[in-house]
Amino acid sequence: MHSSGTLRIHELTAEERAVYATLKPERLPEHVAIIMDGNGRWAGRRSLKRFLGHQQGAKSVQLVTETASRIGLPWLTLYAFSLENKLRRPRAEVNFLMRLLKSYLETNVQRMMDNNVRMRYIGRTFELPPEVQDKMRWAEETTAGNTGTTLTLALNYGARSEMVDAFRALAAEMQRKHLNPDHIDEEDIRRHLYTAHMPDPDLLIRTSGEMRISNFLLWQIAYAEIFVTERLWPDFRGVHLLEAIANFQCRERRYGGLGESCGAVEEDPERIKIAAG
Ligand code: FPP
Repeated sequence: MHSSGTLRIHELTAEERAVYATLKPERLPEHVAIIMDGNGRWAGRRSLKRFLGHQQGAKSVQLVTETASRIGLPWLTLYAFSLENKLRRPRAEVNFLMRLLKSYLETNVQRMMDNNVRMRYIGRTFELPPEVQDKMRWAEETTAGNTGTTLTLALNYGARSEMVDAFRALAAEMQRKHLNPDHIDEEDIRRHLYTAHMPDPDLLIRTSGEMRISNFLLWQIAYAEIFVTERLWPDFRGVHLLEAIANFQCRERRYGGLGESCGAVEEDPERIKIAAG
C-alpha cells in the first residue's frame, strides 16, 4: 500500500466493503485514471437533455473520489474535458460544462477538505474562461495541504498537445543549457509532461463501452491495464471502482517480460516443429 492518506474503510457502504474485502491490500493500484463517458447517452435513455447527464456525471465524480479517498488511493485522474470537446461540441454545451465545473468546485471543496482530497489539474487550462480558472486556483490552493487522494482533473486536455508542450519545454531547456539532442532520453520527456509529479496510471477505466483511448495520457498508459465497462458514467459509483480494481488484481502485469507463470507453460520447440510440419 503506497498511500500517504489514512484508510477509512469503515466509511465505505456495506456493498463497497463486500468488494473491498476481496481485494489484496498490498496490490492496490497507485494511480487510477478514468475516461468518463456516456453522460449524453444516460440522459438520452431517459429522454432528458444532455445537460442533465453531465450534472449527474458530476455527482459520480464526487462519489467516486470519496470512495477512492476512503481506500487510500493516492492518485485519481479524471478526463473531464478534452481539447476536442471544446472544439467539437456546441457552444451552449461547452458553456454549460464550464459553469458546471465552477459550481462543482464551489460546492465540493468542503467535501474535499473533509475527505483529505487534494485538487490538481492537467491540460491547457490557461485557455479556460478566467472566472473558471480563478475558481480552479482557489480549489487547488484550499486543498493543497491535504495528504489523501490527489484528484487530478484533465481539463482542456489532449495527450498529443501535452507532448507538444513537453517537447517545446525540453527544446527550450536544451537550448538554454547547450545540450546535445543525442542525449535526450525517456526521462527527459517524462519530466516535461503535465504529469511529471505523479506515477503512471496502473489502471485505466473507460465507461460506456467504447474501446478507445481518445487522446488521453498516451505516454503514461504504456503499461496500464485497461478496464472497459458498459456502465454509463452517471451510473458509475465507488463500488464499480472497487470492482474494476478487483478485476485489475486478477491480471498479470508483465511490463514486456514473460511473467511468473510462463515457465510452467513454456512451449517445447520440438513439439511446435512437429506440429507445424
Ligand atoms: C462524456 O459524456 C463526458 C464528458 C463530456 C465530460 C465529463 C464531464 C462530467 C463528468 C461532468 C462534469 C465534471 C466535473 C469534474 C464537474 P458524453 O457527453 O460524451 O456522453 P455521450 O458519449 O453518451 O454523448
